[in-house]
Amino acid sequence: MKKALYGLVVLLLFSVVQFNVSDTFADKIGYKKIFTNNCQKCHGKDGKGTKRGKGLGVPNFTDSEWQDATTDKQMITAITNGKKKMPKQGHKLSPEEIKAVVKYIRFFAPKKRR
Ligand code: HEC
Repeated sequence: MKKALYGLVVLLLFSVVQFNVSDTFADKIGYKKIFTNNCQKCHGKDGKGTKRGKGLGVPNFTDSEWQDATTDKQMITAITNGKKKMPKQGHKLSPEEIKAVVKYIRFFAPKKRR
């Protein structure tokens, strides 16, 4: 009986460690850094768009309607291949990096009131 309890504790600890490892891995891709280096000059630190970006017609990433209307797939396509005044990034960023930065763009969404 004691042995089973010990096993359970080990299992729990293991899952905590695993959770942290995958968290660290996600951060290794460094979506924030990618955004700061490649996107911020147009999309702005706050995701609303800089003066330059607004002049080019960037969407407001903090707009919940825009967030709801835009799929991850659509963003990946726009980032990879470019879209109108938005420069393509497919030659600079790997598919994994692009996926990570899409995740970062979702952080700009306002918290939903329920
Ligand atoms: C030179 C300025 C510029 C830079 C740099 C830039 N963007 Fe954009 N981005 C734009 C403009 C302009 C649009 C609006 C395109 C349009 O007319 O729909 C846009 C649109 C987008 C969209 C919305 C696409 C859609 O389907 O509506 C996403 C997502 C996006 N950018 C992500 C990024 C990411 C991620 C980066 C960095 C890796 C980046 N952008 C870098 C100018 C820029």
